[in-house]
Amino acid sequence: VTDADDPLAAFRDRFVFGDEDTIYVDGNSLGRLPRTVAERSAALVEDWGERLVTGWSDWIELPQAVGDLLARAVLGARPGEVLACDSTTVNLYKLADAALAVRPGAIVTDADNFPTDRYVLEGLAARHGRELLLTDELPDRELALVCRSHVAYRSGGLEDIAAVTAAVHDRGAFALWDLSHSAGAVEVELEAAGVDLAVGCTYKYLNAGPGAPAFLYVREELQERLRSPIQGWFGQRDQFAMGPRYEPEAGIARFLAGTPPILGLVAVQAGAELVEEAGIAAIAAKGRALTSLAVELADGQLAPLGFELGSPRDASRRGAHVALRHPKAWQVCRGLIERAGVVPDFRGPDSVRFGFPPLYTRFADVRETIERTRRLVESGAHREVDPTPRRVT
Ligand SMILES: Cc1ncc(COP(=O)(O)O)c(C=O)c1O
Repeated sequence: VTDADDPLAAFRDRFVFGDEDTIYVDGNSLGRLPRTVAERSAALVEDWGERLVTGWSDWIELPQAVGDLLARAVLGARPGEVLACDSTTVNLYKLADAALAVRPGAIVTDADNFPTDRYVLEGLAARHGRELLLTDELPDRELALVCRSHVAYRSGGLEDIAAVTAAVHDRGAFALWDLSHSAGAVEVELEAAGVDLAVGCTYKYLNAGPGAPAFLYVREELQERLRSPIQGWFGQRDQFAMGPRYEPEAGIARFLAGTPPILGLVAVQAGAELVEEAGIAAIAAKGRALTSLAVELADGQLAPLGFELGSPRDASRRGAHVALRHPKAWQVCRGLIERAGVVPDFRGPDSVRFGFPPLYTRFADVRETIERTRRLVESGAHREVDPTPRRVT
């Protein structure tokens, strides 16, 4: 595969590049800055300075408007099913709690799910007096809620969202999906897959920036039955009547809590518009081609140096990142950053993750990444790197 016949090649120029010699393969953790995000954020700051509180008449519906954009461009959902708000962690808490309030039974997630998901569910299990079962299976007992990641954060493994959701429904439970590593990277069809609930972040493949607001999805048919545990005024019916008691708004808005972060929301909007313009099918196809090239080159050049593939071999079962396992993964990762001009990340116990966000990654970048990794490890230079763990890995 070459960059010359890449239909998305032109999208690279839509992003800001600092040092052209460094290969950034950590967009699966924090995506690159799109030029439009920089421009829109600057324009919003100016708007804020000029209009002050009068700006709210235009800003107040942004969580719903950006939610609808995400629904159509990224999530395969209907209008009125998605909000851009809060963090993934907070949204997971809100939706899981809402589900547990209306359905008895245990909570299931996998032992390898992202830590915040496991911790939030552990806390909710204690609060609601439920069991939390850490397993890939659907244990044979009454189940209330099953939470899975669509793309696994370490391995990049992609679940069959429709099949798993159907199996969860057969057991009478709600299916709650974490889409953090799939939104903007692979096709997601929430409506077609029959998904009940979903959450995800926007700072990875949607490129909305550090700590940008996340999203939540609640299937339209469920919205009337479910309530957010945070009874904030943005989820209140007739908000500015300032009434004496909380009464949830009709529709998705009941899952809002407080004043929306407008600066972050314009960034999500600009990031999601880029995905809409490129088209998620084209993005996902390029992601499969980039990761396939990485796997093929790693098999040839890195397997002899002690690397093992930590991701599925079948491209249709992967997101847009590849994990390579190595006994000295931490030092390889640090060595790449400090000595080889490649920026991946480390996920314990032994994985280096290489993310290839299709909108701005070239096939040449994949080749250069594997080549530089081979040179580093062949030379043994990674062994000279300070092995002390860091606050952020
Ligand atoms: C699967 C998954 N869920 C959640 C999060 C993070 O959630 P939050 O944005 O609330 O920190 C991440 C971050 O990497 C993630 O990979």
